[in-house]
Amino acid sequence: MTVTGHAQGATRTQSPGKPATVPAPATAFHGETTPWWRDAVIYQVYIRSFADGNGDGVGDLLGIRTRLPYLRALGVDAVWITPFYASPMADGGYDVAEHREVDPLFGTLGDAEALISEAHRHGIRIIVDIVPNHTSAAHRWFREAVEAAPADAARERYIFREGRGEHGELPPNDWESVFGGPAWTRIAERHGEPGEWYLHLFDPAQPDLNWWHPEVRAEHEQILRFWLDRGVDGFRIDVAHGMIKAEGLPDAGFTNQIQMLGSTVLPYFDQDEVHEIHRRWREILDEYPGERIAVAEAWAPSLERLAAYVRPDELHQAFNFHFLGTPWQRDELRTVIDDSLRTSSLVGAPTTWVLSNHDIRRHVTRYGGGESGLRRARAAALMMLALPGSAYLYQGEELGLEEVLDLPAELLRDPQRLRSADGSSGRDGCRVPLPWGGSESPYNFTPMNIANGWLPAPQQWREKTVEAQWDDAASTLGLYRRALKLRRELPALGDGRLDWPEDTEVLLGDAEDLLVFHRAPGFVCTVNVGAKPVTIRRPGALEIASVDLDAPASSDTVVLPPDSTAWWSAR
Ligand code: GLC
Repeated sequence: MTVTGHAQGATRTQSPGKPATVPAPATAFHGETTPWWRDAVIYQVYIRSFADGNGDGVGDLLGIRTRLPYLRALGVDAVWITPFYASPMADGGYDVAEHREVDPLFGTLGDAEALISEAHRHGIRIIVDIVPNHTSAAHRWFREAVEAAPADAARERYIFREGRGEHGELPPNDWESVFGGPAWTRIAERHGEPGEWYLHLFDPAQPDLNWWHPEVRAEHEQILRFWLDRGVDGFRIDVAHGMIKAEGLPDAGFTNQIQMLGSTVLPYFDQDEVHEIHRRWREILDEYPGERIAVAEAWAPSLERLAAYVRPDELHQAFNFHFLGTPWQRDELRTVIDDSLRTSSLVGAPTTWVLSNHDIRRHVTRYGGGESGLRRARAAALMMLALPGSAYLYQGEELGLEEVLDLPAELLRDPQRLRSADGSSGRDGCRVPLPWGGSESPYNFTPMNIANGWLPAPQQWREKTVEAQWDDAASTLGLYRRALKLRRELPALGDGRLDWPEDTEVLLGDAEDLLVFHRAPGFVCTVNVGAKPVTIRRPGALEIASVDLDAPASSDTVVLPPDSTAWWSAR
């Protein structure tokens, strides 16, 4: 890949939808037709918490720009940035009031354009979020809808219904919000009388759109083009399994519906007709030069149903949440890896591995926290990076960060926590601003620590900062840097297939907690997921290990410590 200079279009104003000039092709990548995404390592930036450029305590576009050299040195291929559009921030920006405007909290449209072109100069592609299932309640369409009379056409862009019960006092059906409570809120009509209900699968500040309305479809196609014209390399599609609701909005028929998300088709998620939308979006992506991609955030009830999102005429990638949710257990890991590769290869797509994101407890904590959680997290990351396909990293996992579980209640902002029945769940703990350097919070998250970060970072993070780990090869950051470098260098890694060798090839005795896979040419990955050391025949020259591993060439055997992964170049 050659990264050459970048032709930037003339400076544009902040006004939505109207570039002052027709944008020039925004990147050197866009002449390329390589399917770069099939094995890309893509780094998720949760913008509020990555880096603050203007000193207001909240991460922003300028902050990302200043940290591009870090991302390049880390060795990622692309960055996915969570929403930075105009928003009242009821859900950290996933409540979008206008997709073509940048929220002043995060910068300007000019900052977004500068970031895209500068990232390209660093050889990094940019993926932006699109949130099609719902808008913010502050969106002009929703304000119009609420002000209109019940039968007015302005209500048809959303999902308004009369309530059940004698006086319409009950929600229209039994659907539940992902954030807790009913998925319906009743509005007051123009003269203050109780009126219709509207659907919101998330927060009441995020009304669901009616995707059978032609204007809703046309608007989103224009939004895609708006950002493609500005040079983005792709989209992460929020709630890509949403949008279409079962005809007639039938009851689900049971409670705690969201817990069934991973195993049952609910009447409001993963409906077959959603694929028409993705097919249309693929056509639009393919109209643009270069390989512009889309990745689905789709919570599908099975790997088979997930694979439908990455059929050749649909999206390129879909996060593999089945893998993310698999416990650190040999047989379960092997099954999910096999099933993932099998189902995605049936449609010719790669698998897209992920261990953490901004909605889920950080995997160090999921794996038990503390030292053993970190050991497993390091082993899991090294295993993931050796699997065939693409991988997403969540900011801070390369530093070995844990979930912050003791944030002061008055600082929490996540609507999921605010709506949850027991008040205990919430996603702020994985969204604490990143520690870059120095010895106290906010650890250079803001320039020269001039302000506090929007959430405080714990004391223990002073040893976890980028600065503290950068030159330490044994640190988690050192491990990620070396693994990403090797992933580019070793021809076996990235896209392709894997094989499980006969156990007898490497095993010396009983090793029920060991996973071993081969990738051609000449690569072996060993993963000991157990609590006991395992002795094996040394598979070759050690390339990297998630622990300190003694594997001298003079010895035919090697002891794999508990919770460890190693990469070997086969003899
Ligand atoms: C997705 C986002 C999450 C957000 C929700 C509603 O699941 O990842 O952060 O709250 O959609 O937009």
